[in-house]
Amino acid sequence: MDGFRARLNDSLRLRLSFWLLVIIVGVAVVGGVLSFVLTYTEANQVQDDMLRQTAALFDAQHLPAPNTQPSGDTPIDPEARLRVALLPPPGAASQTASRTGFPPNLTDGLQTRVMDGDTYRIFVTALNSKQRIAVAQQTAIRDETAGYSALLGLLPFLVLVPLLLLAVTALVRRVFAPVMVAAAAVDRRSERDLQAVSLDGLPEEIRPFVAAINRLLGRVADAMTMQQRFIAAAAHELRSPLTALSLQAERLGGAAMSDDARTRVRTLRQGIDRNRLMLDQLLSYARAQSMPAMPTSVVSVHDLFRRVLAELMPLVEDKQIDIGVSGDDIHVRAAEVELTTVLRNLIANAVHYTSPAGVIDLRAVQTTRGVAITVEDNGPGLDPAERERVFEPFYRGLGTEVVGSGLGLSIVRTLVEQMNGHVELADAALFACGLRVTVILPAARA
Ligand SMILES: Nc1ncnc2c1ncn2[C@@H]1O[C@H](COP(=O)(O)OP(=O)(O)O)[C@@H](O)[C@H]1O
Ligand SMILES: [Mg+2]
Repeated sequence: MDGFRARLNDSLRLRLSFWLLVIIVGVAVVGGVLSFVLTYTEANQVQDDMLRQTAALFDAQHLPAPNTQPSGDTPIDPEARLRVALLPPPGAASQTASRTGFPPNLTDGLQTRVMDGDTYRIFVTALNSKQRIAVAQQTAIRDETAGYSALLGLLPFLVLVPLLLLAVTALVRRVFAPVMVAAAAVDRRSERDLQAVSLDGLPEEIRPFVAAINRLLGRVADAMTMQQRFIAAAAHELRSPLTALSLQAERLGGAAMSDDARTRVRTLRQGIDRNRLMLDQLLSYARAQSMPAMPTSVVSVHDLFRRVLAELMPLVEDKQIDIGVSGDDIHVRAAEVELTTVLRNLIANAVHYTSPAGVIDLRAVQTTRGVAITVEDNGPGLDPAERERVFEPFYRGLGTEVVGSGLGLSIVRTLVEQMNGHVELADAALFACGLRVTVILPAARA
């Protein structure tokens, strides 16, 4: 009950349906009672009229008045159980009355009396100066007939109210449907989609609220753009002095110095390189996040593999990694520079995290879901619990000795989602251990 009350307070739709239902049922109950009482009274009056008419029939048409037989009065209609009797005028000796079973002191007009243990409604009227006629009907029968008519009057209510309840529930649901549809559309959005919610089809009452949300979305988008610009600008500004530092450190390495100093200069250069890499990735990430829709072209996935492998060749050779492209080439419509960045990050990860003399397999296949590009290695793989976290910016696997920024997979996911695709991590299928990264790009055309 408390749960229902809480839901009632929360949901406008539920509240509207509930109160409309309460009102309808209330109106139906009051209407039903009124209709019952009115019909019942009306039926009783009709029955009184019937008594009057029966008496008038004897009078007007001079029908032979029912004989006062030894049994008493005459039942005219066994169903209606009307009893008719001739009575002497008021004040006369009431012998006849006592023989008929009618009470002796009946007055002219309508009255309710007890006769032979039952209650009767009796109408008495004068036929002539010597005779009166009395028509009587048992009240139990009258009540039964009146009650039946009154119940019949309730029938439309009983049929129509449930229909009305169903109609109101359906109507309220229908009225709120556009709001539900808009909410579902917003729910389906990615966190980067800050476009205004369409006001089309929304009820006028909801529009100001949605418009306010849209203004807020606009402000959030502006703030995010500012932030991304700031990150990109900061990374860019830091890059030039770092390049200068790197050059100077390189020159310093050429100078004559002690072994101890040489070791320190090497450490210094490694530190500077790490920071350059970090800045490059940061710039890449900021760009990926703020990039508008990129122009696409049809590109050969194997071409991109080759281009990235050429860049990474020194590292691959250094670690003596067996890296190969398998399967047929596939052409895919994509933004070339961005897809190259994606593959560069994935292949660099495979090379970095695989032990020396490891094996890496690169492939592209057409599947029912689109083009699937897989990068699979026989390295240590990734614990399933970590597979979602590695996409967070700056998240790095614990205890990794590899130089990195923790931004690679964040960049990959951002770019792939911009292409309406998605990235999946799984255990290696070709090797006993290792990681398989699959990028799925939908609606690929050759
Ligand atoms: N091929 C892989 N095998 C094992 N672990 C990986 C692989 N690729 C990525 N990871 C894990 O995911 C983490 C995040 O990767 P990434 O976002 O590219 O950042 P970075 O490589 O700079 O650490 C890495 O630190 C590593 O722990
Ligand atoms: Mg990486």
